[in-house]
Amino acid sequence: MKSWRWVAALMAAMVMVMSGLAQAQTRIWVKPGAVWRDTQGKVIEAHGGGILHYGGEWYWFGEDRNPKLDRAKRYVNCYSSRDLMHWKGRGHALVLADPEHLGPHWVLERPKVYYSPATRKFVMYMHLDDVHYKYAHVGVAVSDKVTGPYRLVESFRPLGLESRDIGQFVDDDGQAYLIFESRPSGGFFVARLSPDRLKVERPAVAFLHIPLEGGALVHYKGLYYVMGSHLTGWRANPNVYATAKKLDGLWTEFRLIAPGSEDTYGAQSTFLLKVTGTKTTAVIFMADIWRPKALWDSRYLWMPLEIKDGGMVLPKPMAWGIDARTGVVRVK
Ligand code: GAL
Repeated sequence: MKSWRWVAALMAAMVMVMSGLAQAQTRIWVKPGAVWRDTQGKVIEAHGGGILHYGGEWYWFGEDRNPKLDRAKRYVNCYSSRDLMHWKGRGHALVLADPEHLGPHWVLERPKVYYSPATRKFVMYMHLDDVHYKYAHVGVAVSDKVTGPYRLVESFRPLGLESRDIGQFVDDDGQAYLIFESRPSGGFFVARLSPDRLKVERPAVAFLHIPLEGGALVHYKGLYYVMGSHLTGWRANPNVYATAKKLDGLWTEFRLIAPGSEDTYGAQSTFLLKVTGTKTTAVIFMADIWRPKALWDSRYLWMPLEIKDGGMVLPKPMAWGIDARTGVVRVK
């Protein structure tokens, strides 16, 4: 009798250990295009997002498109992670109620957060617009804490220009830049931010004369890689990139980032995340697979890029993982 109990207890323990292992196995992979859940099991809502690395943690900010939220307001979510695999929901970093009276279908897109060492404040940029995308402003919000609450301080057109999709870049020297698409100019700008991150400084450092949005930029092994998508709204298209030794150029011609796919595997660029590890440096392509009829169900395509000889390639999406400490990526 006694020995049966032992066997039963041992078997139960083994089942627990094995299911624990299986869970750990499934949890350590990022699966592009799949529903991505936070550490509490809630679906991650952080579209058009960007990442801030601060105090040893990564903070992911993005649009919360949950249809159950108050339709009159717009919400930016924040998630934090120490390993880039497990993301903890930190709640709404920003909640706004149509600050510029843009009408019921007003738009808040692509939030990006910078840290200002000069003021020790966190500064969020976002695209603010009306239903017809005519307002074309950026909004700037500030918080004392990384997770918020952020308070809108103003909205303006950077350098006096129409600005729609925005992107974020912080160079290795700590200098912060705003990327913004400007339709009447026929291209997109990369402009320095002031030390307090509240102003966009003139003149712009770079103007890329090609109509691209979803702009992203990374500095990797002495070369700048700038990236964007063509102007096809929510519909995915072949995203392209160019390189330069210096931010102000000369830039190469634009080339396809995903030669294996006609539409970047259905995704649109939003951010390039550089992970500098003890062994190697990885660059992760972050993009949105938009579902315009159910924006809340839009998916994320995060995938490590293959970079060599001054060229980058987005490989066919598959499950992957990273050791955020060493920077070593593994693909399933
Ligand atoms: C995309 C843009 C999105 C959103 C959408 C609206 O091109 O990247 O952020 O603005 O158009 O149609």
